[in-house]
Amino acid sequence: MPSARLKIRRGGAVDAPSWSIFDLPFELGESVLDGLRRIQKLHDPSLGFRFSCINANACKECMVLVDGRVSYTCTARLEAREMTLEPLANKTLHRDLVTEIAPPDERLHSS
Ligand code: FES
Repeated sequence: MPSARLKIRRGGAVDAPSWSIFDLPFELGESVLDGLRRIQKLHDPSLGFRFSCINANACKECMVLVDGRVSYTCTARLEAREMTLEPLANKTLHRDLVTEIAPPDERLHSS
């Protein structure tokens, strides 16, 4: 079974950058999102990432940088090599791979 090494940027906007590395055996055709969900379930429940539709490229909530390129984790495939995952650089970072995705005028406000 092939194995991917996922190097994942961790922490929030004010934290010093840190990285977690997971060696992840995978079946051909599995997505990066499949890998993130498995890591969260089996290895690190604190890993933060976002998704909704899982596999339709419809919600666009799973966008991150994969090896420096904007990608949907639900459509990017795991590969037998090191893959670097980072949050989107042009969005406000919440934690790990989770960034602000709603346009400013669509965010909920409390008053
Ligand atoms: S999870 Fe919806 S587009 Fe990727």
